[in-house]
Amino acid sequence: MGEKPPILVTGGAGYIGSHAALALLDAGWPVVVLDDLSSGHRWAVPEGATFVQGDIADAGLVGAMLKEHGIQAILHFAGSILVAESMTEPLLYYRNNTAATRTLLETAMAAGVNRFLFSSTAATYGVPDAVPIREDAPTRPINPYGRSKLMSEHMLADAGMANGLDYVVLRYFNVAGADPAGRSGQTGKVSTHLIKIAAEAATGKRDGVAVYGTDYATPDGSCVRDYIHVSDLADAHVAALEHLLANPGTRVTMNCGYGRGFSVLEVLDAVDEVVGEPLPRRIENRRPGDPDALVADTGLMAATTGWIPKHDHLPTIIAHAIAWERRLVERG
Ligand code: UFG
Repeated sequence: MGEKPPILVTGGAGYIGSHAALALLDAGWPVVVLDDLSSGHRWAVPEGATFVQGDIADAGLVGAMLKEHGIQAILHFAGSILVAESMTEPLLYYRNNTAATRTLLETAMAAGVNRFLFSSTAATYGVPDAVPIREDAPTRPINPYGRSKLMSEHMLADAGMANGLDYVVLRYFNVAGADPAGRSGQTGKVSTHLIKIAAEAATGKRDGVAVYGTDYATPDGSCVRDYIHVSDLADAHVAALEHLLANPGTRVTMNCGYGRGFSVLEVLDAVDEVVGEPLPRRIENRRPGDPDALVADTGLMAATTGWIPKHDHLPTIIAHAIAWERRLVERG
C-alpha cells in the first residue's frame, strides 16, 4: 500500500479509543481524534494524533473536519458504556450511542466518507443460548446499553444496503489491561469492571474485591467471561480497517475476544499470583443482569482479517492493568 490516508477516531481520548489511536499511529496511519472529553482525557490522546475537541453530533464541525483533514474512514468509539447507568438513564444512551451515531453517519456520507468501523458489544447478544457465541446467534440485549448499540448496528446494515456504506462492526467481549509501554490505560471516573477493580485493590485503592455470585451454572459457580487485552483489541481495529479499505463492499459484524473464558474466581486467583499474595475477597449476591457465561466464537474475525492476538495470557493482562494502576497512583 502507498501512503496511508488519514483516519478519524471518535472517542480517541477514552480507554479503547486511545489504544486504537496508538495502534494506528504505530502502524503508520495518520490519526485525527475527535472527543468531547466528557469521559475521556486530553492526555490520553496520543502524541502524533491531531486533536479536535467537539461533539460527534455537531454536523457542522464534523463535516468541516472530515474535509479539512481528508478523512477516508471513521473508527467510531465515542459513546456511553456503563450498563448500570443505562438502566437508570436510558434516554442518555439512546442519545449518545444511537442518535449521535445516526447523525455522524449522515454527516460522514454527505462528506463522501463511506467507510465506517463501529464499536459494538457482546451486550447485543443478551443471555446466549450457548457459548462460544457466533455472530449469527440471536441478538436479544437485556439492557438499554446493548439495545442502543444494536440499534446502531441496524442503521449501519440498512445504510449499507441502501446507500453503499461499507462497514465493520466489532462486538467486544471483556476488554481489560493497558498499553504494555504504559502510554494509556483505563481511567474512568467510576470503576465497575472486574480486572480494573482488582487492579485498584492490588494498589491499595480498595480493601478487596466483591465476587458477585457463586451460584451460576458454571464449573465453580462464578460468571465466566472472555477477557481480551485492550492492545490486541486495538490491533484488531487496524486489521479490520485494512480489510475494509482493501475490500470495497465489506459489510460484516465480527466478535472480538479470544474464544476462551475465565471465571471470576479464576481471574482473582490469577490476580493473587501476579500480586504475590491473596487479596481479600467477599462473596456477595448476584449483580442483576449478569449472564452465566459469555465467550466469543472468534473464527470469523481470524478468517476475515488474519488478526492474531499477542497478549492472550490472563496474567499478562492483569499485570498490565496493575502497572497502569500504579502509574495512576504515582501521578496522584
Ligand atoms: N464482577 C465481580 N466483582 C466486581 C466486578 C465484576 O464479581 O467487582 C463480576 C461480574 O459480576 C461479572 C464479571 O465479574 O460476572 C465481569 O464483570 P465486568 O463488570 O468486568 O464485565 P461485564 O461482563 O459485566 O461487562 C462486559 C462489558 C460490557 C458489556 C457486557 C455484556 O464490559 O460493556 O460485558 O454483558 F455490556
